[in-house]
Amino acid sequence: MLPTIDLQEDAIIMVDQRKLPAQELYVRCRTAPEVAKAIRTMVIRGAPAIGVAAAYGIALGMKRSTAKGTRQFAVDFQKTCDLMAATRPTAVNLFWAIDRMKRAFSEGAQAGESPEELVMRLQHEAQAIHDEDVANCRAMGGHGAEVVPDGARVLTHCNAGALATAGYGSALGVIRAAVEQGKRIAVFADETRPFLQGARLTAWELVREGINTTVITESMAGPLMRAGEIDLVVVGADRIAANGDTANKIGTYTVAVMAKEHNLPFYVAAPLSTIDLSTPDGDHIPIEERDQREVSHLGASRLTPAGAHIRNPAFDVTPHRYITGIITERGILHPPYSKSLKQAFAHLAKA
Ligand code: MRU
Repeated sequence: MLPTIDLQEDAIIMVDQRKLPAQELYVRCRTAPEVAKAIRTMVIRGAPAIGVAAAYGIALGMKRSTAKGTRQFAVDFQKTCDLMAATRPTAVNLFWAIDRMKRAFSEGAQAGESPEELVMRLQHEAQAIHDEDVANCRAMGGHGAEVVPDGARVLTHCNAGALATAGYGSALGVIRAAVEQGKRIAVFADETRPFLQGARLTAWELVREGINTTVITESMAGPLMRAGEIDLVVVGADRIAANGDTANKIGTYTVAVMAKEHNLPFYVAAPLSTIDLSTPDGDHIPIEERDQREVSHLGASRLTPAGAHIRNPAFDVTPHRYITGIITERGILHPPYSKSLKQAFAHLAKA
């Protein structure tokens, strides 16, 4: 499996996703601020992967803490959590992972654990978040493959693959599972301006596994659907609101509208940690606006004339009415999502 992120003795190692596919370089983060910077600058990206990185970053930060006594240690812990929370606003997995780390910390603190014991507890929790994410991706793949027929031509947007998770991927996990079942699958990867996650990362992941992959610019998706060259769409998600409205990489909304126009199934694959029942609908999802340079430049080359205004919202919201099903580790959820999403969590609480 692809080495997205790994916790070693005194550092967190991540493959530098800004450099792929030209170079396979690994970044070593030795402190919590280094991890926060890696998340902010997209060394690591993708909602579940960001959550895992933040959890490891908190564990690493507390291992390095020089706090004297448990009270100071708790202050340091809160600061480290705040540092991670300030990295990127849209993917809810980040906040979900931080909350889990906070719960682990308070359980240990209530049990009277020493700072050393708390560090051990935090490391275990971060490792559990990592391991569960891989297992969830495999489970999503199993459920999602059922709706991918043999011979399907699948369009995906951005990168919801092994690189965007702890491994295996959500949308690409569905594709991988279908391929593992022996189905002949052809993937169309939207290039995904401006960061090119589709052209660079999705294509890199799939091609190295021998999966039939065609890169297209986003403007080609609609015409290819009209020409009958796409059978279904599977994408990932950064935050799914209580009514099923889904934030994902900018461009997803346009693909969803196009899919509806051409009567094609449009699936979102995401773990339950991406579902945020406390956000009522898509209008309440914070959308990150990133540096204008990502749009105005390609590497060092300027694409736009100086003086042109630039916008760079990194995500958009697809209203729930465009979504055929939400593929989770617990099965595929169907409309009405305000009911099925709640039920998925109610079952989880009973399990
Ligand atoms: O800005 P990014 O690259 O972090 O955005 C990633 C996406 O939008 C993914 O589709 C989403 O996080 C799902 S990853 C399994």
